[in-house]
Amino acid sequence: MKFKKICVLGLGYIGLPTATMFAAHGIEVHGVDINPRVVESLQAGKIHIHEPGLQSLFEEAIKSGRLTVSSQPVEADAFIIAVPTPFQHEKFGEHNGIRFKLADMRAVTSATEAILPVLRKGNLVILESTSPPRTTVKLVAPILTRSTLQAGTDFHLCYSPERVLPGQILRELVDNARVIGGITPESARAGRDLYATFVKGEIHETDATTAEMVKIMENTTRDVNIAIANEFARLAEKFGVDVWEAIRLANLHPRINILNPGPGVGGHCISVDPWFFVEAAPEFSSLIYQARKVNDEQPNFVVEKVRRAIGELKNKKIAALGLAYKPDVDDLRESPAVEVIHLLQKEGAIVHAWEPFAPNAKLEGVDMASDLDSALKDADAILLLVSHSQFRTLNPVSIASKTRARIAIDTVNVWKPEQWQSAGFALHRLGDAKSPVSNL
Ligand SMILES: NC(=O)c1ccc[n+]([C@@H]2O[C@H](COP(=O)([O-])OP(=O)(O)OC[C@H]3O[C@@H](n4cnc5c(N)ncnc54)[C@H](O)[C@@H]3O)[C@@H](O)[C@H]2O)c1
Repeated sequence: MKFKKICVLGLGYIGLPTATMFAAHGIEVHGVDINPRVVESLQAGKIHIHEPGLQSLFEEAIKSGRLTVSSQPVEADAFIIAVPTPFQHEKFGEHNGIRFKLADMRAVTSATEAILPVLRKGNLVILESTSPPRTTVKLVAPILTRSTLQAGTDFHLCYSPERVLPGQILRELVDNARVIGGITPESARAGRDLYATFVKGEIHETDATTAEMVKIMENTTRDVNIAIANEFARLAEKFGVDVWEAIRLANLHPRINILNPGPGVGGHCISVDPWFFVEAAPEFSSLIYQARKVNDEQPNFVVEKVRRAIGELKNKKIAALGLAYKPDVDDLRESPAVEVIHLLQKEGAIVHAWEPFAPNAKLEGVDMASDLDSALKDADAILLLVSHSQFRTLNPVSIASKTRARIAIDTVNVWKPEQWQSAGFALHRLGDAKSPVSNL
């Protein structure tokens, strides 16, 4: 199938790079977003997310005339839906005493409905949003069928999960293997034809529900593996062990690969997607549910660690470094670092947070510092929550000259204990019962 024009709905971390990439490869692209601030910013030539290399590629696409942006879909050969699929914050499901989070599919529903007036015979529709199993056949297809066109016969319909890593999106969009699940083999073939425009990685065709499951399985596997690393960190502290050393030694085994513990699991994907399985089949998801619980509780473990390091938390001033859910991105969604800050404040601590990737972010109940120095000023302790590159390379001698704090707590194992100790800090590391060394 040949594509001259496509329409991408949802211009966030996934949709915007995807739309830009298609335009950069000669396809006419119309991008759609319901957020007027996003549309305004993009129409003015400025991207609203942090992604290396994207601004210049976007500018070229806009200048070439191949990329346009508005709030309404237009007729096209193909439609890609890349809208959010978070969990609901107010409502929960229950099964045999298990309380679980529920997927919020309103954005997928409304984006699909928005396509209805412009859907034509022969079109291809692709859902990219991470979605619960059977969303393509049970939610998207019935909505599109309201047009009187039949999914799989009059138009093609696919699910294709996105696996890119924020910070590396432009490279990974091209190089990663891609799975395309069609509601018919012909739909999958049409999906392959579209992504072959720029994808150099292998493209695998399958059915839509398998493709949905693949994506949730990938993120659930990571979640479960991080949960066990977090439990190992707790166990190591109980047994007087340094978990980082224990993990390094365990990973010398040729078939073992334990991930790193940390302050918890956040972001729009790993902390959300496993719930899609729990909601769809709680009777078969007990391990997945437990892993979610372990990771959701990890911020409490960090707070306990801070309490052990500095004693009574009430009125203690803490400089919290990093709010993003992972290193070197500006994405604060479901971030465990934010949860740690809220919990510390609940205990009476006064937290001043510094996030270099989102210095102007406004988060309810979080006191944001304007720069590192003002976060450190007057602090009693420094708490590292994200291993941003610029935090990894902080010089403890220079930090010591900017703050009276002499206690540092590293939840991500990037600061070298010897360096911090010789600069006068007691460095406490998450999962390390041996730090700080006792002679400090
Ligand atoms: N960010 C990632 O790293 C990543 C990786 C893989 C998969 N995903 C999945 O991709 C999907 C999109 O994620 P994202 O990170 O790009 O989200 P995002 O929040 O960055 O962007 C989504 C955009 O969609 C817009 N939107 C919401 N409803 C809309 C509608 N009805 N019509 C048009 N636009 C609408 C929002 O205004 C927003 O700008 C999610 O399902 C996510 O789980 C994300």
